[in-house]
Amino acid sequence: MDPRTIVPKTKFEGFMMVLQNKNEALSRKIQLIPLKDVHEGKAKRVEIEGLRIAVTYINGSVYAFSDMCTHANYALSEGPIHAEDLTIECWKHGAQFCLKTGQAISLPATRPMNTYQVEVIDGDVYVHLPQEGSP
Ligand code: FES
Repeated sequence: MDPRTIVPKTKFEGFMMVLQNKNEALSRKIQLIPLKDVHEGKAKRVEIEGLRIAVTYINGSVYAFSDMCTHANYALSEGPIHAEDLTIECWKHGAQFCLKTGQAISLPATRPMNTYQVEVIDGDVYVHLPQEGSP
């Protein structure tokens, strides 16, 4: 075998590699907002392509997530952010969501919120969205 051939150590690793490449191919990077317009510890709503996305900045990291509570569709960007545990709290009934994973960590929400991969390039925040037409 050619020593330059890349062989996954396990079938599982090979499978993960394919999934990662597929996801990269299915996403596109969209310019969202200048970072200077996002205030530390506050959520800023941005509407793009029919999506409502909330962006916040905490301790040097930027987070982007769906601006819709999964309990009853109220805007999460109007609720408080708890920087100490990286959560946002829905102002309507108090559900909390992890800003990193989107996981619902307190009732009454039980479903996770969407989170988006974020990059900051030349002072602008970009999010990765699925390719149009992809599931
Ligand atoms: S609408 Fe958010 S907790 Fe009910």
